[in-house]
Amino acid sequence: MSASKGVGAPIPHESAAAHVTGEALYTDDLAGRLPGTLHAHPVQAPHVHARVTRLDVAPAYAVAGVVQVLTGSDVPGVNDAGTKHDEPLFPDEVMFHGHAVAWVLGETLEAARLGAAAVEADYRPLPSLVTVREAIEADSFQGTALCSERGDLVAGFGAATHVYTGVTEFAGQEHFYLETHASLAQVDEAGQVFVQSSTQHPTETQEIVAHVLGLHSHEVTVQCLRMGGGFGGKEMQPHGFAAVAALGARLTGRPVLVRLTRAQDMTMTGKRHGFHASWRIGFDDEGRILALDTTLTADGGWSLDLSEPVLSRALCHIDNAYWIPNVRAAGRVARTHKTSQTAFRGFGGPQGMLVIEDILGRCAPLLGIDPGELRRANFYVEGQETPYGQPVRHPERLALAWDQVEASGGLAARREEIEAFNAAHPHRKRALAVTPVKFGISFNFTAFNQAGALVHVYKDGSVLINHGGTEMGQGLHTKMLQVAATTLGLPLEKVRLAPTRTDKVPNTSATAASSGADLNGAAIKNACEQILERIAGIQGETWEERVRTAYLSRIQLSAAGFYRTEGLSWDAATMSGHPFKYFAYGVAASEVEVDGFTGAYVVRRVDIVHDVGDSLSPLVDRGQVEGGFLQGVGWLTLEDLRWDEGDGPGRGRLLTNAASTYKLPSLSELPEVLNVDFLPEATESGVVHGSKAVGEPPLMLAFSVREALREAAAAFGPEGRAVELASPATPEAVYWALDAARRTMTIADDLPDLAGTPL
Ligand code: MTE
Ligand code: MOS
Repeated sequence: MSASKGVGAPIPHESAAAHVTGEALYTDDLAGRLPGTLHAHPVQAPHVHARVTRLDVAPAYAVAGVVQVLTGSDVPGVNDAGTKHDEPLFPDEVMFHGHAVAWVLGETLEAARLGAAAVEADYRPLPSLVTVREAIEADSFQGTALCSERGDLVAGFGAATHVYTGVTEFAGQEHFYLETHASLAQVDEAGQVFVQSSTQHPTETQEIVAHVLGLHSHEVTVQCLRMGGGFGGKEMQPHGFAAVAALGARLTGRPVLVRLTRAQDMTMTGKRHGFHASWRIGFDDEGRILALDTTLTADGGWSLDLSEPVLSRALCHIDNAYWIPNVRAAGRVARTHKTSQTAFRGFGGPQGMLVIEDILGRCAPLLGIDPGELRRANFYVEGQETPYGQPVRHPERLALAWDQVEASGGLAARREEIEAFNAAHPHRKRALAVTPVKFGISFNFTAFNQAGALVHVYKDGSVLINHGGTEMGQGLHTKMLQVAATTLGLPLEKVRLAPTRTDKVPNTSATAASSGADLNGAAIKNACEQILERIAGIQGETWEERVRTAYLSRIQLSAAGFYRTEGLSWDAATMSGHPFKYFAYGVAASEVEVDGFTGAYVVRRVDIVHDVGDSLSPLVDRGQVEGGFLQGVGWLTLEDLRWDEGDGPGRGRLLTNAASTYKLPSLSELPEVLNVDFLPEATESGVVHGSKAVGEPPLMLAFSVREALREAAAAFGPEGRAVELASPATPEAVYWALDAARRTMTIADDLPDLAGTPL
């Protein structure tokens, strides 16, 4: 009975019932339980780039209910919200439209809002860069440029019989977690700070709060009960809001809640990086890639936060599933006057992979090779290494997953049906595309690949576990309960999990890089095993009896567990090493139908085979695959971030700052048929219970939808032409793509074959 809900059992998310009944508490709900809580409202600057020449907060105090206005002069420690010291918490220089220059605390949110409106500020506007192209032209970059190189480009291009160049540009993405950023701070009688925060990285939130307040880490505790979604957007962005709440609490002695409205969240916090990529690629006559030379420019926004590691992961995924013998991938981060772009599910991996998938999708018709065949012809095989020098283990899983999708999706028969349909319908076209995913698991920054846990067995035999990971809906806590129950050989009901807190498990890494279950699960297992080892000699009929006897024998029934991933190395300067514990694989086949008059489309059917190793929790993993896939579809086809790029007074303003103007995927965008299977017999050695990380990789399965849209657009025109498709591939973008294909003028002129021309 006990094993029935342990590791591998398809149980619901531990909070599923509470999520749907509204009983689950989020940071904002907790404030209602604290009498005297003050509410915070930002003073957002109405300029894209400007010097603050005057800030008069006195008028705010005339507003009833305003208690305190926070400005830079109130900061006792470091006036910075990040780890790079390029993010002033209270800025003198406005760096993006909506940048907060002060915060007002009020008895109610409304009092704070009116107080913020009463603050008087003067600004001297400064020149601004809004688009990544403007930044490139102005030579506006930040951080360190990176380069990943292997082989000999001159020889590679020299041997190539087909050479093409192009530019691929694509947009970012708003996280749109259901819960906006929130932090609730309190101080105790000794001035110690307790912050409950919607953060993926409690330890870093703790460190930033400490440095803003001029305190040591041991004087600040950060807790995260759960998040209503994070998706990477709460990896580094919560720190400043937590610091504002903590500063307010220190100054007033009262609890302070910072909870952003949706419009504030959208205009103030970072998003997925959009990229600009220029490239040159060489193939042989069989379509094998011989050389790739590319420069990626990530639109970092106004400050660095995670832009460098995001760029690094993009460069490490430029190969996706493909062997590229000669390659140079350079990367740089543009500085623009926008929100500071940040982590978002896949952490740059999707951006790097989109570049190669876009290249293959555009070049296949020019090579006269079916796009699916072109992809397969370039798959990694056993014995090959990535450009950064890591052997690709289990590359055969790509081909296995592909074959499984071909068979279970009945693709051969459907291709014939699609051909017949297209022949019969001049104004509607269908297409089916298959794309692979190979995604490296572990943090590139080796030190982050460690985790701690704290496991208590009480005298009655009940168990309380703590670990360093945070719950954002991805089901980490569910998996951790299952790992503890299985390791201890107990029914799931015997184990309870306490909220993530920095005073329980210190020095934690962000719950990110999909590695939460790998790292924290192994740490919990380690703690449980320590306890089991100590009581191994204790006899008893039941667990409770043994625990009782162990206690009376003065055996410690509490253990701190620890885990670090072995075998990792990474040299950031040369972009080489063995940064990943393993690769997660997946393949998706998507069929779309496009209307030739409007570009409107539907996703008719999607078949996915994804490699999760031996699933720790199959229902949770299925949810991650489905949710990740659809979030990827949103990024690539629907979600259309628009900033005011004009020269008027609204320059730099985020125009899509609400759900009314920013289109998100929902039930109506779900494919009509969505089949998800896990790759069988996929045990991964050296990972907790043979499982693989699942949080991010499925997002990139959505490339299949984008490629299907491209092929459907192509079907409106003659064969053999490259079709360019903007990203996101909104109906409007699809319309322009199919319209260009239909007007038989050759877009192929944009991609002349340059074989034989010097580099
Ligand atoms: N799933 C839900 N429901 N909500 C989220 O915020 N974040 C994703 C993914 N799945 C997210 C999610 C991201 S960006 C990551 S890195 C992983 O979950 C983090 O959790 P894990 O390491 O436990 O997989
Ligand atoms: Mo996920 S982007 O690594 O938080």
